[in-house]
Amino acid sequence: VTGDNRRVSARIGTFAFDRPFCQAGLAGYSDRAMRVVARRRGCPYAVTEALYDILLVNGGAGLRQAIDVNDEDHPVAGQIIGAEPATMARAAQLLHGAGYDVVDLNFACPVRKVSDMARGGIMLQDVPRAVAILKAVRDALPPAAATTVSLRRGFDDSGESEERFHAIVEAAWGYGYHAIRVHGRTVTQKYVGRSRWDFLKRVKERWPDRTILGSGDVFTAEDAVRMQAETGVDLVWIARGAIGNPWIFDQAARLLRGEAIAPPTLHEQRAALAEHFAEAMAIHGEALAARRVRKMGIKYSRFHPEAAAVKSEFIQVVSLADWRAVLERHYAADARGVWPAPDAADEVTSSRRSA
Ligand SMILES: Cc1cc2nc3c(=O)[nH]c(=O)nc-3n(C[C@H](O)[C@H](O)[C@H](O)COP(=O)(O)O)c2cc1C
Repeated sequence: VTGDNRRVSARIGTFAFDRPFCQAGLAGYSDRAMRVVARRRGCPYAVTEALYDILLVNGGAGLRQAIDVNDEDHPVAGQIIGAEPATMARAAQLLHGAGYDVVDLNFACPVRKVSDMARGGIMLQDVPRAVAILKAVRDALPPAAATTVSLRRGFDDSGESEERFHAIVEAAWGYGYHAIRVHGRTVTQKYVGRSRWDFLKRVKERWPDRTILGSGDVFTAEDAVRMQAETGVDLVWIARGAIGNPWIFDQAARLLRGEAIAPPTLHEQRAALAEHFAEAMAIHGEALAARRVRKMGIKYSRFHPEAAAVKSEFIQVVSLADWRAVLERHYAADARGVWPAPDAADEVTSSRRSA
């Protein structure tokens, strides 16, 4: 968030950002541990994973786990996913009441389990339902509360799908939503094939005075800067590129200022790794922290000169002692880090990009 005399890159409601990047919602990853480790390294805005409205509304453990912001973690968006206007509205109130600065609606998620109802990216096929949710959520919150919507560019590649996208976005502006986030893949595409940045550019051209977040295929700081330059989006949503790479925000900001960037040194990596485990352990307890953070360690290892060896050790971590032992063995002596192999970040989704 900016001081008075600094350049403002983007706004969401009353929140102003001095650098045009944010950390994405990422199921299984973007908990408070991932968010604060990134914020301490220059990330101005971050989003929770998609939280099921019903889990929030039913209370109990689901609610307690989801409601997890602290003083360091602002501005933060709580993202909700669900099928029914009334439960989405109630979930939005709970997040707002718990201190989330922004409520983001997920109309983007392509994952569909048999038991799933019409939620996430399915909204792009069901405009009346999407619009009813937009209205119910807005009506349930005080006017000043910031709200945003995450969408994919369509359900599929049909012209009707694009029309539905625009109908939902128009409705969002009509109800007073403060920003939209657009992932340039369709729902049916899941993670296969490229994100269409030309679509993001057209969206920004169509609504030049609105805040648009752009998403898809941002794996490096260079990609983040390039997306903004090529599409004009106000904020670049950094997703897979931020997993195990909390430095990407500062790197991208440096590139914008025309400065050179270097990979994090081994001691910078060690500091982030130690912090990440400590933060996760405070939230989840040791055993669950180990399960969650070791997949981060795998991604962090990309910056190590002996990435393969370090990765195979992170895979086996089940405790804090194991984690510390890997840091002791591989990160004790400082040295230059390396840049990851191209495309290493998209291993998170096992699908292949086609181009
Ligand atoms: C493992 C994983 C989990 C995700 N979880 C969420 C989520 O909870 N909410 C959301 O809005 N998007 C989620 N996404 C989508 C990303 O935020 C992002 O839009 C997408 O990965 C495209 O960006 P990228 O190609 O730069 O990774 C997820 C993506 C991945 C790979």
